Amino acid sequence: MNMEMLALEILDNTVLKKTVLVFFCGFLFWKIVRYMCGLLKVDKEPVTILVTGAAGQIGYALVPMIARGMVLGPNQPVILHMLETEAGFEALKGVKMELIDAAFPLLKGVVITTDVVEACKDVNIAVMVAGIPRKEGMERKDVMSRNVSIYKAQASALEEHAAADCKVLVVANPANTNALILKEFAPSIPEKNITCLTRLDHNRALGQISEKLNVHVSDVKNVIIWGNHSSTQYPDVNHATVATSNGQKNVRELVSDDYWLNNEFITTVQQRGGAIIKARKLSSALSAASAACDHIHDWVVGTPKGTWVSMGVYSDGSYGIQPGLIYSFPVTCDKGEWSIVQGLKIDELSREKLDKTAQELIEEKALAYSCL
Ligand SMILES: NC(=O)c1ccc[n+]([C@@H]2O[C@H](COP(=O)([O-])OP(=O)(O)OC[C@H]3O[C@@H](n4cnc5c(N)ncnc54)[C@H](O)[C@@H]3O)[C@@H](O)[C@H]2O)c1
Repeated sequence: MNMEMLALEILDNTVLKKTVLVFFCGFLFWKIVRYMCGLLKVDKEPVTILVTGAAGQIGYALVPMIARGMVLGPNQPVILHMLETEAGFEALKGVKMELIDAAFPLLKGVVITTDVVEACKDVNIAVMVAGIPRKEGMERKDVMSRNVSIYKAQASALEEHAAADCKVLVVANPANTNALILKEFAPSIPEKNITCLTRLDHNRALGQISEKLNVHVSDVKNVIIWGNHSSTQYPDVNHATVATSNGQKNVRELVSDDYWLNNEFITTVQQRGGAIIKARKLSSALSAASAACDHIHDWVVGTPKGTWVSMGVYSDGSYGIQPGLIYSFPVTCDKGEWSIVQGLKIDELSREKLDKTAQELIEEKALAYSCL
């Protein structure tokens, strides 16, 4: 080895050592800063979350999940605003007592009220659970009319008093159309910030596939709920996969029973709500609350790479769905924004089902507007 090569090798080693040292020092510095922040308790600003209808079944299951950090993570403090009717207010006082008794470290404040303006003040995230369910003997138009008036009033309060970048999730039925009314009466809230819950149906579809294949539910991904949160929704597995020891495998291939997938699977997911009412004599609340947490969590924190979820969002015409409807699409989320997954192949059977549920939403929209 001549002198020149030896010099180069020494230089190379020195540069390498220096680089490693710089990275190590940087890492150490970052660790120290984080540790010091912990010691000084440099807390994040709390996020204010509104839950309407908070003394109801879903509200009661949802608020402890939020207070425990299931929505925004274990390091994010929250303030809860909870809205109820006069009739529900006594029960809401009880919910507040229980929240205090649970001593949630992340819960920095609880406001209970029957005043929609106070409820909406400075909220960053609004979960709209309040609604009038259809009871025996009630006309469809009657139910729609009562929900339209709730969503009109609450939209105006959010418009005027919520934080400018407030994200809204509508849970109460008819969820898609309630969200649409809210959008109409809160025009300054960007349409990208108004969504409705179809994640429960999405999770139900994951659950059914996991049961059928006897695989863990976390290994199943990319099912889709298209359309309305109603019995016309279309649970679609054509792009869904399961993680196996041999990589991702298509759900259709693994199930290898198209008849089951095109019939029983779809109706089971569509009618799961009814099956739960029959068994529990009450509608699904635990799974609805959990799905609401999943929806907001993924929207704010982001979806894992290669994974999508279903969200009811304002249609931009993707997949031939009429713009101006709140329709459930497959979406990915990044930096607090959702985007509709583009370019998925839609076969003939799916096309029919996508259009059928869109048609129902068009009719619901017309009915809602006739109630304004
Ligand atoms: N999108 C979904 O996946 C999904 C799933 C399950 C249930 N839901 C719907 O969620 C809604 C709530 O379900 P639940 O089981 O909790 O019902 P619930 O009747 O137990 O609770 C609703 C609560 O809303 C309150 N409320 C009614 N009008 C109000 C108003 N104007 N302001 C404030 N509060 C008001 C009621 O007092 C009640 O406590 C229903 O519409 C239900 O159909 C949607």
